[in-house]
Amino acid sequence: MPEPNLDNLKTEAFRLIDSAADSAALEEIHVKFLGRKGELTLVLRSLGELPPEQRKLLGPQANSLKNLLEERFQARRFELEKKETDQRLTGQSVDVTLPVGTRRAARPHPLTQINNEILSIFQELGFEVADGPEIETDHYNFTALNIPKDHPARDMQDTFYIGKGNLLLRTHTSPVQIRVMEKRKPPLRIIAPGRVYRHEATDATHSAIFHQVEGLAVAENLSFADLKGTLALFARRMFGPQSEARFRPSYFPFVEPGAEMLVSCIFCKKAGCRVCKMTGWLELLGAGMVHPNVFNKVGINPEKFTGFAFGMGVERIAMLKFGINDIRLFYDNDLRFLEQF
Ligand code: DAH
Repeated sequence: MPEPNLDNLKTEAFRLIDSAADSAALEEIHVKFLGRKGELTLVLRSLGELPPEQRKLLGPQANSLKNLLEERFQARRFELEKKETDQRLTGQSVDVTLPVGTRRAARPHPLTQINNEILSIFQELGFEVADGPEIETDHYNFTALNIPKDHPARDMQDTFYIGKGNLLLRTHTSPVQIRVMEKRKPPLRIIAPGRVYRHEATDATHSAIFHQVEGLAVAENLSFADLKGTLALFARRMFGPQSEARFRPSYFPFVEPGAEMLVSCIFCKKAGCRVCKMTGWLELLGAGMVHPNVFNKVGINPEKFTGFAFGMGVERIAMLKFGINDIRLFYDNDLRFLEQF
């Protein structure tokens, strides 16, 4: 092995270090001499193969050259980095009057938050999420739900009809009940969220487009007690453990008996206030035991199976929970409103 010429190596390294144009170029030169396969590294590594006298002489020289080079690299690195930082900052000025922290974290719309909260409460109870089309047929939206043509119950929900056929925008999520029961055999428990439409004037509590969540449970031996227990638990989970639920008779064509569920007023705790119109109670949802006519239409034997169903408005629950007094605020896309939730 030829004796390495440390003097030449040193001269060459110094020349390159001093003329390096920037810190990236300097790092390449560092690799060339002191990298894993660098020229000086190879010399150091080959020392062991030299005859002892030669090694005694060359070893200390090579090691002190290594230290020397590292120092030179370090000094040059410092020089170049300072120059580069100076260049970067030249021509830049800092505007201390600029507002800071303008980036805002995104979050779900308040209606989405409430919708998800409703779904997860029922999912914990074993209800599966189902859905159906927003453009429905007269059959699914009305007839199959025991609301025949020309029956006065049709007046409860006016809608938007599409063309001359029997297509319409669904007025409620109840048609999903029918679609599920046609496809599946009981026992079943489903929860169906979605957008619904009514031909109605908009005001602080009404919107032609809004959202509902429908629930349906069908099995042998389901009773009104199951309905009450399930929905009372829902009210406690949604509005807090002290919330009480109350049921009063109501009419929906697709259930018998039908009921309305009320919760104890979350604002005045039943003392009476403006929101509950001094009654102490808030109307929350419609519910009831599935009508035998509905079971017959989907081929489920009403002698063998019973079921309960319920439907609630997402906007209404969100308004109660968040203390919002105008439904239109949900649809304005005004960040000053939306950022509060
Ligand atoms: N679909 C009804 C409405 O939009 C709400 C409803 C009432 C749904 C009673 C139900 C029910 O499933 O059993 O007004």
